[in-house]
Amino acid sequence: MVVLVAGATGYVGSRIVRELAARGHRVRALVRDPAKLAPVRHLVAEVHRADATDARALAGCCDGVDVVVSSVGLVGRGAGRLTCWDVDHGANHNLLAEARRAGVGRFVYVSVVRAPGLERVQLVRAKRAFEAELRTSGTAYTIVYPNGFFSDMDEYLTMARRGRAVVFGRGAFRINPVDGADVAGAVAGAVEGGPEDIEIGGPEVLTHEAVAREAFRALGRPPRITRVPAGVLRAALAVLRRTTPLRVYGAVEFPLTVLTQDVIAPTTGHRRLADHFRRAAEEGGAAG
Ligand SMILES: NC(=O)c1ccc[n+]([C@@H]2O[C@H](COP(=O)([O-])OP(=O)(O)OC[C@H]3O[C@@H](n4cnc5c(N)ncnc54)[C@H](OP(=O)(O)O)[C@@H]3O)[C@@H](O)[C@H]2O)c1
Repeated sequence: MVVLVAGATGYVGSRIVRELAARGHRVRALVRDPAKLAPVRHLVAEVHRADATDARALAGCCDGVDVVVSSVGLVGRGAGRLTCWDVDHGANHNLLAEARRAGVGRFVYVSVVRAPGLERVQLVRAKRAFEAELRTSGTAYTIVYPNGFFSDMDEYLTMARRGRAVVFGRGAFRINPVDGADVAGAVAGAVEGGPEDIEIGGPEVLTHEAVAREAFRALGRPPRITRVPAGVLRAALAVLRRTTPLRVYGAVEFPLTVLTQDVIAPTTGHRRLADHFRRAAEEGGAAG
């Protein structure tokens, strides 16, 4: 099949490109900056260059495409003038419109874990708004709901390298982070068909303190962990929400909220965080 991958330069998007190419699909990548596609460029047949917030720039990107996969999102990293409503909602809305115009048969969307305490966060609300459009679009779809990626856990390696990691509350909030390759496997399966909703988390439910200890272990260093009351973080977020625009507080609202509650998805991933940390430590990754 011909598959358009939007977000192909990203952490999970590049893994989706690898997985689709390995399964024999013809990949068209939608990218803003072709230079960022370098690691997987040899696996990509065609490139459409566009910023997906610009509907006109998407014209033709879905022509001849069987399935669209989108992992386009801000991921809480902020993007200057843009908010999650411009990107997580708006860019995907534009892509879906272009997919429908071109008669694409299926749309696979990489969303974010469903957890009660996250649903009020703006980033999640923007994604849920797009999901509602997708569900009623008349296009066949799968929405993938992954828990936090291993790439986000690399922050613990970065802290461990600096000599001290910070966790919130008593360090007991839990998460089952998932490898992007496991998510890519689920997405590639969904390209070929399958359920409308797929929830995916890593195989191990870990406290954030256990994640931090794993990071120190990977570096061969004794753990030094500071526990900060969760209320401190929640209060800081409340101040940011009142005093800054969405494009500022929206960049941190999601990642900081995840740190102060349990966020658990079905344990369907296979790859283990300890192995990821060990490889990243050997490669000198995560701010090495
Ligand atoms: N990170 C996590 O822990 C996590 C967990 C669960 C779900 N998710 C969701 O999974 C998705 C992918 O996450 P990721 O960690 O792979 O993020 P990532 O590495 O930042 O990748 C995001 C991709 O979206 C592209 N993009 C952003 N704005 C765009 C625009 N206006 N037009 C075209 N492309 C645009 C980026 O392109 P550039 O390279 O040009 O920036 C990049 O390829 C996101 O929706 C995220 O919310 C992430």
